[in-house]
Amino acid sequence: MVALALQDVGAAYGKRPIVSGITTELLQGGSLTALIGPNAAGKSTLFKRIAGLLSGPGTVHLTNATSGKDAIRYMPQDTGGNAVLTVYESVLLAAKQGSGWRVSDQELAGIDEILAALDIKALAFRELGELSGGQRQLVAIAQALVRKPEVLLMDEPTSALDLYRQIEVLAFMQRRARSAGMAVLIALHDLNHALRYCDHTIVVADGRMQASGPTAEVITPQMLREIYRVEARVERCSRGRPVLIVDSTAA
Ligand SMILES: Nc1ncnc2c1ncn2[C@@H]1O[C@H](COP(=O)(O)OP(=O)(O)O)[C@@H](O)[C@H]1O
Ligand SMILES: [Mg+2]
Repeated sequence: MVALALQDVGAAYGKRPIVSGITTELLQGGSLTALIGPNAAGKSTLFKRIAGLLSGPGTVHLTNATSGKDAIRYMPQDTGGNAVLTVYESVLLAAKQGSGWRVSDQELAGIDEILAALDIKALAFRELGELSGGQRQLVAIAQALVRKPEVLLMDEPTSALDLYRQIEVLAFMQRRARSAGMAVLIALHDLNHALRYCDHTIVVADGRMQASGPTAEVITPQMLREIYRVEARVERCSRGRPVLIVDSTAA
């Protein structure tokens, strides 16, 4: 199974360094990792560096990947896209990117399967430009998954989704990661989602890594006070799961 590890990774825009010194444990296929941190911490920049869209110091170790440079896929935060394409065309285009124009029955079946799994089959022949932000976000997830990446970097994939869709997408990604042996990294702001769905959590602030490890060990009142500047508790709910409760901004 694929595994990813970062060793002293950094990235810059031009001469301006944004992130530096990011080192993680081995992030295994089949697992979900949350990438958390305040606004402008460097989460998107780090994702672009891992995906090879930005260069920088350090090493992105990828082991047991079978699909070469296609192994890692970055799903950007702003899912623009060509507004006059239909949903179906845009997912087909993503599937065919850089691989010729012959379309097999198997590829069409793969697109149907992804659209059905994300519950957006009814949108297939609507144009992207007439979708809501949340609907476009689901299409972007379909575009990312249809290439069957081994490592998927999802940049705030649930930010425009309603509560039902947030839970649906995260639970779906957890199942998909497990069944496909895919390593999924998700930039998230909702730390309860990280607690509920993510095996690991990496915290960045000011471009530096502040913590990395099993989610329940990383999301602590002390980290929340230092990094997020809030007073918060992590308590067990009646089902025994850890739940984050924020009381106030920190003094
Ligand atoms: N294309 C760019 N050129 C120059 N600076 C950028 C660019 N994109 C982001 N930055 C800067 O890099 C820092 C980190 O941004 P980003 O990685 O997007 O943070 P996050 O995703 O954690 O909110 C910010 O200060 C931002 O202004
Ligand atoms: Mg970002």
